[in-house]
Amino acid sequence: MPLLLTMDDVTKVLEMPDCIDVVEKAFVELATGTAVLPLRIPITPPGGLSLYMPAYLKELGALACKVVTVYKDNPTKHNLPTVIGKVLLQDPVTGDVICIMDGGYLTAVRTGAASGVATKYLARKDIGQTAGIFGAGVQAKMQLWAVATVRKLNKAYIYDISDDAVKSFIAEMSSKLNIEIEKIDSPDDMLAKSDIICTATSSATPIFNGNKVKAGTHINGIGSHTPNARELDTAIVKKSKFIADSYEACLKEAGDIMIPIDEGAIDKSHMFADLGEIITGKKPARENNDEITLFKSNGLAIQDVATAKLVYDKAKAAGVGIDVKL
Ligand SMILES: NC(=O)c1ccc[n+]([C@@H]2O[C@H](COP(=O)([O-])OP(=O)(O)OC[C@H]3O[C@@H](n4cnc5c(N)ncnc54)[C@H](O)[C@@H]3O)[C@@H](O)[C@H]2O)c1
Repeated sequence: MPLLLTMDDVTKVLEMPDCIDVVEKAFVELATGTAVLPLRIPITPPGGLSLYMPAYLKELGALACKVVTVYKDNPTKHNLPTVIGKVLLQDPVTGDVICIMDGGYLTAVRTGAASGVATKYLARKDIGQTAGIFGAGVQAKMQLWAVATVRKLNKAYIYDISDDAVKSFIAEMSSKLNIEIEKIDSPDDMLAKSDIICTATSSATPIFNGNKVKAGTHINGIGSHTPNARELDTAIVKKSKFIADSYEACLKEAGDIMIPIDEGAIDKSHMFADLGEIITGKKPARENNDEITLFKSNGLAIQDVATAKLVYDKAKAAGVGIDVKL
């Protein structure tokens, strides 16, 4: 009988440090050839985007498919989150579905976890750094949690065009992480103050002037993931060491890199590595304290599948969820 896990159940058992650990393993499997990762299938009903994301991870013994939707008007028109998802986890031996779980919180945590892995390998290692988060929505909160898991932060900064989102971000995350979080009023100020930057907005156009990013900054760009949308301008992409979650996904889905390539500002070879190549040491991570490193995350099914297996194992061990006869 499949186990049914609600968002509350998933929230109870899923912690960022464990998720960073399994997401790192998933990227290693992708780099070493034990992962099966078809490109996600998009369907675009009016007003939204529906993505079908299957993957298999041999070493982790994880097989699953997530259905995730991105509907930008959901918060204002339907009192629902922008991103909604559900995951079907299967037994790789029999193929049977062993768990149906909510994927909303899982998506946010696994997206944070990918940035956590990238930050662990690419950000400067000196202690007492600062993190600047662009966007104060669901994903943004998990970005800060991930960065604070892999680096000892002195302080965090938050910038969003919505004051209400900023207030809720500060109230929730300062107590959760026991860290001082300051509201910032301009993107330029944010760039001047932050050593590690995460962009997690719903904007389809660049959110800051890349020429103002200071030397030594690490950036996790997780927002836009369609060919015509981008959060990052050509200037910052051009002057960064660019690390893709996947070359293929970046060239098919990421306006952040596709638009500068179309403009002729860079070519494909500007993509220095993918995250798996960095983790496995095939390509060097940060080489000095002045480099600007940029991780572009489109979101891969391997992250969902590894996280879903983690959630299932933890829920079974803790007796969380209910078994349902289908
Ligand atoms: N890479 C991945 O794996 C992945 C996974 C899930 C979602 N996403 C993407 O992450 C983004 C954020 O998703 P969410 O669920 O947090 O959405 P959300 O609606 O909860 O939050 C988005 C926030 O961005 C703010 N914003 C919009 N334009 C801005 C700007 N120019 N400057 C500063 N803030 C701005 C909005 O006011 C809002 O508070 C979306 O683009 C979504 O598609 C990526």
